[in-house]
Amino acid sequence: GKRTTAPSIRARKAGGKTEQPIVMLTAYTMRMAQLLDPHCDILLVGDSLGQVIYGLPSTIPVTMEMMCAHGAAVVRGSWHALVGVDMPFGSYEGSPEQAFASASRIMKETGCAAVKLEGGEAMAETIAFLTHRGIPVIGHVGLTPQAVNILGGYGARGKSDKEAKKILADARAANDAGAFAIVVEGVMEGIATDISRAVEAPVIGIGASAECDGQVLVTEDMLGLFERTPRFVKRFDDLATRIGQAAAAYAAEVRSRSFPTTEQMYQPKPKI
Ligand code: KIV
Ligand code: NA
Repeated sequence: GKRTTAPSIRARKAGGKTEQPIVMLTAYTMRMAQLLDPHCDILLVGDSLGQVIYGLPSTIPVTMEMMCAHGAAVVRGSWHALVGVDMPFGSYEGSPEQAFASASRIMKETGCAAVKLEGGEAMAETIAFLTHRGIPVIGHVGLTPQAVNILGGYGARGKSDKEAKKILADARAANDAGAFAIVVEGVMEGIATDISRAVEAPVIGIGASAECDGQVLVTEDMLGLFERTPRFVKRFDDLATRIGQAAAAYAAEVRSRSFPTTEQMYQPKPKI
């Protein structure tokens, strides 16, 4: 079949409300993309790979090289979902021209059909610049992890009236600039609901609200691969336990010489 497109995602909210919520998960590798693709509308190569794959303390050190390598792997492992790749910190904030150079490189090197960047009002000009030049953009407002040093941490946003209004204004700005979808992360419940009603672009929530037009989670969080996860994560499996059990079983069989058996060994061809 044909791969999901940015206009078809935006059109899912054509009547003002998405009938079928948009399903999005992160993917960083070819094999995970293959497994998730049949179930997702969008696969996001998130810069969360900095923490999840590379053990970095935040998304700040994530590079273009990392995003391009993992983005290409995810495109190779998928055929149905739209693949969106996060623009890493420092690759787009300087100017619309810088953003275009980075986003076009990501598209050329990965084959993805969209990029995501953090920021609303401050990035509106950039979102319009990219969109007008052939690059579909997913916005990202509320808790924006690349701004952790300004925000002071990863706590929920929009606790004050002023902050809630600012997040709504950011979402409106991203929408009006042409973003075809907007991720709203880590906000007090009513805010995401208000945003979903206020903008034409589908709003994809993470730690936001069930009223959003879609949901996204970090796949490794959802699979239960981490001990500590934010409140908004639901674990749909407990892979950390299962991987530990598999590794323990393997180690025990190696140590007792019960693995490998003849079944896993190459046997010489019988001589005639
Ligand atoms: O980097 C990421 O995984 C993200 C999602 C959590 C939206 O930006
Ligand atoms: Na991200």
